[in-house]
Amino acid sequence: MRVASFVGQKGGVGKSTLARVLAVAAAHQGHQVLIGDFDLEQLSCVEWAAMRLRQGVEPEVEARAFKSLKKLRKTLEGYDLVVVDTRGLADELTEDISKESDVVFLPTGTSMDDLRPTLALAKRLAKTKAVSNKIVIVLSKTGRSERLLEQAEALISEAGFDMLNAVWPERDGFQADLDVGRAGSEASNPHLKLAAQHVETAMLTLALG
Ligand SMILES: Nc1ncnc2c1ncn2[C@@H]1O[C@H](COP(=O)(O)OP(=O)(O)OP(=O)(O)O)[C@@H](O)[C@H]1O
Ligand SMILES: [Mg+2]
Repeated sequence: MRVASFVGQKGGVGKSTLARVLAVAAAHQGHQVLIGDFDLEQLSCVEWAAMRLRQGVEPEVEARAFKSLKKLRKTLEGYDLVVVDTRGLADELTEDISKESDVVFLPTGTSMDDLRPTLALAKRLAKTKAVSNKIVIVLSKTGRSERLLEQAEALISEAGFDMLNAVWPERDGFQADLDVGRAGSEASNPHLKLAAQHVETAMLTLALG
């Protein structure tokens, strides 16, 4: 059993989206997947899984709300992969979840406003030995500017952190798919599908180890 978590210090950077993208990718490969949704205010993943069920999208992806790590630990048995989605605010739970994880994804936009808090959180988490080698920064909701991408990549590698070797591009179509219980490569648009497949493959490789 493996645990992949999505954490961050910023709201709206794509944590819940990428959690669903990873879960769907693993489910399509036949793995038993659970999304642990720790964002009790929004429950993005739980709501989405219910929509997916209503829409009859296969394979089914299970998502459950959790308030504490203790509760999650009791549930882990029987799953190949547990994908953890957290709130848009790093707290003590963020650190505990990170310790429990095999990989910790930190999605971030390419702007300094996004990168600064992301790198600060990465540095804070890296102080814990059990977490430092699990941190992977994901460039998320990226625009079309190569220059911005390169700048962001340079900054992240200067800071000494690993980066996912695929970016999650900003496209309206991904939102439309989420609204009907789909995610990532389940997009009907072939361009979106391809972009999502790159991210999925990169995340799955790390998540499944
Ligand atoms: N690649 C994308 N292109 C366009 N929109 C996207 C993309 N990825 C995510 N979004 C949208 O951006 C918004 C924020 O994404 P998401 O909810 O995944 O972020 P989050 O980090 O979980 O936010 P929060 O911190 O509030 O939980 C959502 O409306 C989502 O549909
Ligand atoms: Mg979220």
